[in-house]
Amino acid sequence: MALKYPLTPNPAPKTAEQIAEIHRDPGFGVHFTDHMSIATWKKGAGWADDALVPYGPFQMSPAAAVLHYGQEIFEGMKAYRWEDGSIWVFRPEENARRFNRSALRIVLPEIPEEDFIAAVDRLVAQDAAWVPTGDGERSLYLRPFMFASEDFLGVRATTTATFCVIASPVAPYFAGGVKPVDIWVTDEYARAGIGGTGAAKCGGNYAASLLPQYQGYQHGCDQVLYIEASNKDRVEEFGGMNLFILKQGKLITPALTGTILDGITRKSAIQVAADLGIETEERRITPDELFSGVQDGTITEAFSCGTAAVVTPVNAFKDKRASYQLAQPAGRVTMSLRERLVAIQYGRAEDVHGWMRQVV
Ligand code: PLP
Ligand code: COI
Repeated sequence: MALKYPLTPNPAPKTAEQIAEIHRDPGFGVHFTDHMSIATWKKGAGWADDALVPYGPFQMSPAAAVLHYGQEIFEGMKAYRWEDGSIWVFRPEENARRFNRSALRIVLPEIPEEDFIAAVDRLVAQDAAWVPTGDGERSLYLRPFMFASEDFLGVRATTTATFCVIASPVAPYFAGGVKPVDIWVTDEYARAGIGGTGAAKCGGNYAASLLPQYQGYQHGCDQVLYIEASNKDRVEEFGGMNLFILKQGKLITPALTGTILDGITRKSAIQVAADLGIETEERRITPDELFSGVQDGTITEAFSCGTAAVVTPVNAFKDKRASYQLAQPAGRVTMSLRERLVAIQYGRAEDVHGWMRQVV
């Protein structure tokens, strides 16, 4: 049965003036819209209690399993306002599919793709006034998530789950637009390993990334690049983004090995690169290849990419021994790819692959 998310309107929605004030300087993930989509799942009964309700706190037992064992998954996606006022979501079916792959890994229930997308559509349509214009690459960040809401302290998969989508008007994750960022490369800490949960978008991966991220900040870096934990022979991804390097004219990104996230921006960047006639390769990149390549100038550009980060150029990689400065941060290939992708998202370039879904 398809979920409909019937509306209970927020009795005190923000005024147009209040929303305009938030849009002037939205930051990232600090302001939330007037509503949220919710549904609950019970083992044996399936999904029910779907609703679009005023944004607000959950009532939850202190014994809820998520609070103890972290049985939680989430997604990140964006709605964009085009110049004609229409509102579009980027590749939502990809997020729905990845959400269900994450659910399988964490033993949460799958949600039918149409019910996931309906939750997003209903929320975006209801809170359409919250979708900023594209100035400064602003957008409405959408955060679908699901958690184990059963009161039970034994360690086993939950029999009750809560699904929710909230929305937040945002600027790009890194303040300062396309300002190239410095990256801390850690081989001391890992966020995921072979057989672990790296390919799932689950809260625990991000909890594991906080300490190395703090270490990165102490070294003046904005993000951390992880090296696979077991053999330390391949660089993987950032705490919240995928990695691309430009080596001798070819864009290279770490292959999907089960330890990193199958990024939708990554996948789209590979397609956009092909459209632009840029050769790409998915394969292992060793730490030595990365560092020596930047040093000897064969790797000239690098960027991180993700929903929140869009495409953000790398200025330098740093580890405990040295700093490796890219020859061309924000170089031609990075910027042309970035420009095309963003133009598709904001309706300024033709959507030849059918990635955009119109909601309003
Ligand atoms: N890798 C990690 C660990 C992430 O958290 C994200 C962000 O969602 C990405 C990669 C990029 O994925 P996507 O492009 O689907 O947002
Ligand atoms: C996203 O890009 O959606 C993420 O989840 C990454 C996080 C750093 C906000």
